[in-house]
Amino acid sequence: MSNTDNDLAPVAAVVVLAAGGGTRMKSSTSKLLHEVAGKSMLSYSVSAAAALAPEHLVVVVGHLREQVTGHLEQLSETVTTAVQEDQLGTGHAVACGLDGLGDFEGDVVVTYADVPMLTGDTLRQLVAVHRAHHNSVTVLTARVDDPSGYGRILRDGDGITGIVEHKDATDEQRAIDEINSGIYVFDAVTLREGLASLTTDNAQGEQYLTDVLTFAHGDNRRVGAHLIEDVWQTEGVNDRVQLARMNLEMNRRIRDAWMLAGVTMVDPASTWIDVDVDLARDVTLHPGVILQGATTVGEGAIIGPNTTLMNVEVGAGAEVIRTHGSFAVIGEGASVGPFAYLRPGTELGRKGKIGTFVETKNAVIGAGAKVPHLTYAGDAVIDEGVNIGAGTIFANYDGVNKSTSHVGRDAFVGSNTVLVAPVDIGPGALVGAGSTVTDDVPAGSLALARGRQRNIDGWMVERRPDSKAAAAAADHDGSIHPAVQESRDKKKA
Ligand code: UD1
Ligand code: CA
Repeated sequence: MSNTDNDLAPVAAVVVLAAGGGTRMKSSTSKLLHEVAGKSMLSYSVSAAAALAPEHLVVVVGHLREQVTGHLEQLSETVTTAVQEDQLGTGHAVACGLDGLGDFEGDVVVTYADVPMLTGDTLRQLVAVHRAHHNSVTVLTARVDDPSGYGRILRDGDGITGIVEHKDATDEQRAIDEINSGIYVFDAVTLREGLASLTTDNAQGEQYLTDVLTFAHGDNRRVGAHLIEDVWQTEGVNDRVQLARMNLEMNRRIRDAWMLAGVTMVDPASTWIDVDVDLARDVTLHPGVILQGATTVGEGAIIGPNTTLMNVEVGAGAEVIRTHGSFAVIGEGASVGPFAYLRPGTELGRKGKIGTFVETKNAVIGAGAKVPHLTYAGDAVIDEGVNIGAGTIFANYDGVNKSTSHVGRDAFVGSNTVLVAPVDIGPGALVGAGSTVTDDVPAGSLALARGRQRNIDGWMVERRPDSKAAAAAADHDGSIHPAVQESRDKKKA
């Protein structure tokens, strides 16, 4: 962005057209709420408009307007809406937008709410060109391979004489490949006078905003164009095929920007990154990584393959493999997965571990603590240095209420334990494998909460004498397997 762009004085108004039906989406959700790279199309148009610091930012709503207005309220407090009851054309839509604003002078920018790639910078350039040439209208144009359907730009030498809609164009005019993006800057007075002059005498019986340019030219006011090379910035989305194409292109741009900023992507084509994601240098993304929402990844972290993270904060040097996570924090140097499911409220401390087939929810796991295998940790507070054995379940729900359990620092929970919440396991305690813990365990105690083992000698030979098992038992000399004997000796030593 040049300095003159930075110094651009605010425009009087931006009118964003958002009243159309969007019928080709075949959706009960407004087209404008469909998302590109994790944000609604509407939000892109509002952000781009806001870059002009307009005195008025009006969105013209009509079709599904409760949805559109509701979403706008979440996006911005400075946006106002105007209602276009019946869609009588783009000229009529702009007139509706201006209706509530009273009389004012200055520049009025018109954009569409379904053109997500259009940037604030482009709008600022458009306004700068408009002002530099003292135009009464300046239209943003592009040259495209297939101009069919678009309005064509009619030029006479350097100037613009008007725009003709595809349906109204002659064959000769249809051969023109410079198209109207539908994005303009108008001098407010010219716009008002031009709108007042509109008729519906055209192929679609609509009030064409484009006829304001013909009006201005006819009245010897300067009409200019700003041709943009990046055609994507003028592309609208009308159906889900175009939506998918838009997402692909947006994602390609996001990926390229991150790779140039120092992120390694093993397979860019299978990597999807929302527009608000933030990545540090030397992050590595393996194939099949989807980073959504406000996810952030710290320096040197390794994500994937096949990992989806939504609103997750990943610390520097962490490793997250084959994991699905949302609203979670993964500490520096921590390790997650493969096959982990991190649900909202999961916080894994520095160098902690959430391993294979582990599900966590509302689980605060301290530095260096390990939950390595086959565990459900819901409503759990696990302090630093704790080891949670394989198959441990934090039974947090009794069918009516959810309760929290706590495991103190450096405690050890044996495999296949059920902690029936709320229980408090003290620091340095040891819970024997297979326990069902219903009472608190004091610090440093050994808790055994399981039935004692009972062996009935000779049972198989007596009860199932003809079985293979009985034969195997009869063949055995009664010794302990050497691998077990070895471990036992080690444990004793
Ligand atoms: C319009 C332009 C055309 C341009 C094209 C670019 C006119 C007459 N034609 O054609 O020159 O090449 O955009 O995409 O302006 N809308 C309303 N209310 C209405 C009509 C439209 O809000 O009464 C909104 C729609 O929601 C849409 C935008 O205006 O976002 C464009 O309307 P659309 O009917 O798609 O115009 P095009 O025929 O594509
Ligand atoms: Ca259109």
